[in-house]
Amino acid sequence: DWTMAAYRAEAIDKIRAQVGDGKVICGLSGGVDSSVAAVLIHEAIGDQLTCVYVDHGLMRLNESEEVVGLFRDHYNIPLVHVDASDLFLGELAGVSDPEQKRKTIGRLFIDVFEAEAKKIGGADYLAQGTLYPDVIESVSPTGGPSHTIKSHHNVGGLPERMNMKLVEPLRDLFKDEVRVLGRELGLPEAFVGRHPFPGPGLAIRIPGEITREKADTLRKADAIYIEEIKAAGLYDEIWQAFSVLLPVNTVGVMGDVRTYEAVLALRAVTSTDGMTADYYPYDHAFLGRVATRIINEVKGVNRVVYDVTSKPPGTIEWE
Ligand code: XMP
Repeated sequence: DWTMAAYRAEAIDKIRAQVGDGKVICGLSGGVDSSVAAVLIHEAIGDQLTCVYVDHGLMRLNESEEVVGLFRDHYNIPLVHVDASDLFLGELAGVSDPEQKRKTIGRLFIDVFEAEAKKIGGADYLAQGTLYPDVIESVSPTGGPSHTIKSHHNVGGLPERMNMKLVEPLRDLFKDEVRVLGRELGLPEAFVGRHPFPGPGLAIRIPGEITREKADTLRKADAIYIEEIKAAGLYDEIWQAFSVLLPVNTVGVMGDVRTYEAVLALRAVTSTDGMTADYYPYDHAFLGRVATRIINEVKGVNRVVYDVTSKPPGTIEWE
């Protein structure tokens, strides 16, 4: 792709000019954006970049192995894997307000990055995979501090104490452009085509209080849902699909035993940039198949519902 090849070269020049011989750390989230940002920055400045993958205990099933494997084995980019799940889940205990969850997670991410930066003798820059829609959704129409709809934690708000400047090489791009750039950089198709995954991870897909047990239940159910989407050949038609574990128990019957377990909501939307979205019109047989598998295979879920809300008036995530 002509345009992206030019963008890539220009972005690399810009990164070099900005960073000089400084050190950069980049948080990898498992998503496409941070991965593309990391590969681009690595191409620009090589070993001046250290990537940090923080497992906050709210990642998808097998996510850590996939991300760490891709970067260590495929790219040879220096990568620190931090298992911070006890820290994050501990601090999130008892927190149920969505914005409070985001703030807590954002603060802990910064604590962890700071600690990792110290270990490598200090870093001058923090790299982030911020996209254009993140920038505009976080800024009011007048450009001032906004009544944000959601505080996307990867935009702005870096505490003063952090003393690191930001490197954001994707700030001008929309998601589909980031994918083109990712392909241009040689990222594997399976990675480039992945559905977006929010920084706060499963925290915002567990309305109410978060526990490790709920996160485990949600991970299992969501893996089945995504597996069925792929098996049906629908994954690439859908912008984003995921499950939400509701803080509601309902009565069910399994064999001749009464159950009282959680409801799981399935979400799937089509979109081009995440700013607006339509719910995906699955056929009922597909939904029935997914529901049956989840209820049979996942302990703790005895009812499955499908969300038919578009954006607006809904948002894509439930929190
Ligand atoms: P909403 O729910 O606002 O989501 O319609 C639009 C897109 O943004 C993602 N999202 C987030 N990404 N931190 C992120 O990095 C967040 O706090 C966050 N909240 C929503 C969401 O998954 C969707 O792709």
